[in-house]
Amino acid sequence: MPLLQLFNLRKDFGGLRAVDDVSLEVATGAIVGLIGPNGSGKSTLLNLIAGSAERTAGRIIFDGDEISGLSADQVFQRGIARGYQDPSLYLKMTTLDNALLPVKSQRGEHPWYAPWRRFWQKQEAENARAAAGVLEQVQLLGHYDSLASDLSGGQMKLLEMGRSLMGSPKLLLLDEPTAGVAPNLAYEIFEEISRLRQQHGITFLIVEHRLEILFDFVDSVYVMHLGNLLAHGSADDIASNETVREVYFGD
Ligand SMILES: Nc1ncnc2c1ncn2[C@@H]1O[C@H](COP(=O)(O)OP(=O)(O)OP(=O)(O)O)[C@@H](O)[C@H]1O
Ligand SMILES: [Mg+2]
Repeated sequence: MPLLQLFNLRKDFGGLRAVDDVSLEVATGAIVGLIGPNGSGKSTLLNLIAGSAERTAGRIIFDGDEISGLSADQVFQRGIARGYQDPSLYLKMTTLDNALLPVKSQRGEHPWYAPWRRFWQKQEAENARAAAGVLEQVQLLGHYDSLASDLSGGQMKLLEMGRSLMGSPKLLLLDEPTAGVAPNLAYEIFEEISRLRQQHGITFLIVEHRLEILFDFVDSVYVMHLGNLLAHGSADDIASNETVREVYFGD
C-alpha cells in the first residue's frame, strides 16, 4: 500500500488550470522526484498535498486515510511536513531557536503562563531535547548556538529541513532543497536526505531542478508539463524519454 496516493487532483486559479487531473503515488520509504519546466504546477501540487491550497477536484489518500480537504495544520498532524522554495529562517535567532519554531502550543508563549517558570520549564526542556535531536540528524548540533545568519547556504537548507523534522513526519515534501546552494553542498543535501530515509524511514517527494543530482538519489521520477503528468519512470527512463527531453530540455 503506497504512503501517498493522488487521484485526479485538480487546481484552478480562475481560468488557469495549474494542476490538471494528476494521479500519482509515492511508496513508503521511497524518494520520488517531481520535475518539470517553470510554471508546470509542481509547487501548486505540493501545496495541495500539504493542505495549504484548496483543491478544485480530486482525492488525496495518505497512510490509508483520505486527507483531501484537511487544513495545513491537520495535514501536518497526520505526518506530512514540507520545506519551502524560499528558506524561511529567522536570521537573527540561533540555530536551536529556529529549530524550535514549529513546536505548537508552547506554554511559555502564553501570556498567562509565561511569568511562571514551573508551568513551562518541563515542556521547554522536552522541546529543546527534541530540537537537539533533529539538529543532530542534519549534522548541525555543533552549531546550535550560532546565529542562523552565520550558517553557510547549505547549512541553512539543512536547518530548514531539520526544522520540518520536528513533528516526526512520515512524508517530507521538499521544494527545490538545493536552490541557491553550491554544487558540492547540493550533493551533500541529497546525501542527507538519503540518510534520513535510511535511518528514520522518512519518505520524500522532492521538486528539484538540478536533475544531475536528483537522478542519483531517486527511486522514480514524475514529470509535469502545463499542469499535466507527462511521464513517470526511473531516472534512466526519464533521462532518455524523447517527449520529456522536448518539453524539459528543449531538444
Ligand atoms: N496563487 C496563485 N494564483 C494564481 N496563479 C497561480 C498561483 N500560484 C501559482 N499560479 C500559477 O500556476 C501555475 C503553476 O505554478 P507553480 O508555482 O505551481 O509552478 P512550478 O512548477 O512550481 O514552477 P517553478 O519551477 O517556477 O517553481 C503557474 O502558471 C503560476 O503562475
Ligand atoms: Mg515552484
